[in-house]
Formats: sequence, C-alpha cells, structure tokens
Amino acid sequence: MSAKQVLALLSSHIDGDEDQLLSIALQIAAQEARQGRPEDADKLKRLVQKARDQRRTGSAASGQTPIPLARPRGELQGLVESTYPKVSLSSMVLSDEIARRLGRIVRQQQERATLREHGQTPATHMLLVGPPGTGKTMTASALAGELRLPLFTVRLESLFSRFLGETAGKLRVLFDQIAKTRGVYLLDEFDAIGARRGDPNDVGEIRRVLNSVLAFMEEPNSTDSLVLAATNHVEILDEALARRFDEVIEYALPDAASARGIIERRLGKFKFVSKFWVQLAPSLEGLSQGELVRAADEVVKDAILEGESRVSPSALRDALENRKTLKGKFRRHSPR
Ligand SMILES: Nc1ncnc2c1ncn2[C@@H]1O[C@H](COP(=O)(O)OP(=O)(O)OP(=O)(O)O)[C@@H](O)[C@H]1O
Ligand SMILES: [Mg+2]
Repeated sequence: MSAKQVLALLSSHIDGDEDQLLSIALQIAAQEARQGRPEDADKLKRLVQKARDQRRTGSAASGQTPIPLARPRGELQGLVESTYPKVSLSSMVLSDEIARRLGRIVRQQQERATLREHGQTPATHMLLVGPPGTGKTMTASALAGELRLPLFTVRLESLFSRFLGETAGKLRVLFDQIAKTRGVYLLDEFDAIGARRGDPNDVGEIRRVLNSVLAFMEEPNSTDSLVLAATNHVEILDEALARRFDEVIEYALPDAASARGIIERRLGKFKFVSKFWVQLAPSLEGLSQGELVRAADEVVKDAILEGESRVSPSALRDALENRKTLKGKFRRHSPR
C-alpha cells in the first residue's frame, strides 16, 4: 500500500466520507490481487461488504444517521442501546462540586496517555446516585459528548426480566465488549442487583450476577472505557460493590439558583424579565431538573402556538405547580 493510498484513506476518514473510504479499500484489494496476494484481497473485499451491509441494516432499523463503528454486534444486539451524544458538560447546570469532579474525570480521560507514562491510570468506574430526573443519564451523555465516545446503555432491571437465569452470561458478553471497545458504558437501573437479592426465586442468579460484576470491576480495562452505574437507591446496593468505584457522585434536586438557571436556558428567547423570579421561588422547590425542563418546555410551546414573544411568569408558575401535584400522586402509588 502506498503513502498516497494511506493519505486518501485518512482524509476520507477525517471527512467522515465512508463511501470514499470503502472505495479506496476496494482499489487496494484489486491491487493486492494483481500483485499475487489473493488472500489479502479477499479479506479486504469481505470487510468492505460487511461494512456496507451493516450500514444498510443499521440505518434502516433506527432511522437515524448511521453509527458505523459503534453499533453493537452479535449477542449484544438488542441488549445494549448505542448513541453518539452531542451534549457537553457546559449544557448542564451543575453544582460547583459536581462540575469540578466531572471535569477532572474528563481531563484524566483526555490525558490518559500522560497518566500512563507515569504509571497511573485514569478513573474509569463511577457510581451516579440520586433521585429520578436529577441528571444521571444526562451526565453519561455529556461525558460521552465531551470525550467524543459512543454511549452504550444497558438497563439491568430489563436485562433481569428479559433473560431470566441468563443475566450473568449476558453481562459477561457486555464486559468483554467494554474491555475491547472504548466507550462510555451506562449500567442503568443498577440497584436491580440489590433489589432482587431478597427474592427467593432469584438467589442463585443474583449471586452469579453479583460475582460477575465484582470480578469485572477488578479487571484491568486497557481501553480506559468509562463505566457509569446509575441508581436511585444507593441504600440497597451491596457495600462490596460500592467500594469498587473510583468515584461516587451524588445528585440532588436543584437549589433555587440552579432551578432558575435550568429554566432560563430552556426558555431561551422566551424568557421574562428577572424581577418575576422572586415570586416564582416557592414554585421551584421540590422539583427535579427533569421536571423543571418539562414545565419550561410546556409553556414555551404554548407561547409559540399563541404567537407570544415571551412566556408569562404565571403560566410558568401554573405549569410548575401542576408538576408538583402530579409528582405527589405518583409518589403515593410508588412501590418502593
Ligand atoms: N444538571 C442539569 N442541567 C440541565 N438539565 C438537566 C440537568 N439534569 C437533568 N436535566 C434535564 O432533566 C432531564 C432528565 O434527566 P436525566 O434523564 O439525566 O435524569 P436521571 O437522573 O437519569 O433520572 P432517572 O433516575 O429517572 O433515570 C434531562 O433530559 C435534562 O433535560
Ligand atoms: Mg436515567
């Protein structure tokens, strides 16, 4: 292969032009064949075909832009959801403490080569704890976005219910991928491991899963993949498990200033003048980041359809109060 071909391959990769890349690969295959290396030529042709097939089925199934390199294959298909998030940490409203800790994780990841030169490894295993809607999943997206890595999400509770008795095996497949493919892996509903421990039908399975996860947490991870476990219920997590994380980050409902920050970002050009915020303060209390976003989006949509240039503070207050009423209802019916 000539330097020219390498250049052409690289520049089509940089341009994101996969068609061009594959067609250069085919040219190289033809050349290999002419020069008496049919095996290599065949291998190349097969790979190109595989890439094209995957792209076709992948984009048809998801209706999204294709993710050529990071699509889960084989056994992982249907188990893991993969995305390429575009979110950054700066699009989140975070406490100084959490912002600083997440910033440090990103930096260690970005400069992991330097760390390794000095015999250190970047932090890779994080436990994200907090009530629903407080930004755990969004953090996983933002870390992937910052690091330009694919985000792979697995929901443990769903895994348990879909693969009764086979969960440990399924997890093993996932852990092998984590060791091979660099990415951000979100193990969501992580407390499923703790929650099922008391279930007499499940004891053997739970022990296998717990052991499998514990062993995995000890394995060196040469790809420096980030592994994030998210849970609403830290209290039911096994202590042996919790100890194995490099970082435990606790999420909470926002304080008044953060709540206002989150809503103002969502309102964008529809935001009202700041003197109204004083009277809104009581309505902001007790709602999660996610609920605030929903309330804000609701009034923005109304304003758009009504042809208004701003949302009214009283409409926002009503939307916030509605969310609170809803929340009260659901909490009473919640099983745990
Ligand atoms: N710190 C934040 N800054 C801005 N928006 C946020 C923040 N945290 C959450 N949000 C908004 O709230 C929504 C819900 O958050 P997210 O899905 O991350 O919650 P979660 O903690 O994963 O909840 P669950 O436990 O229910 O999975 C996000 O999609 C985002 O719009
Ligand atoms: Mg979540």
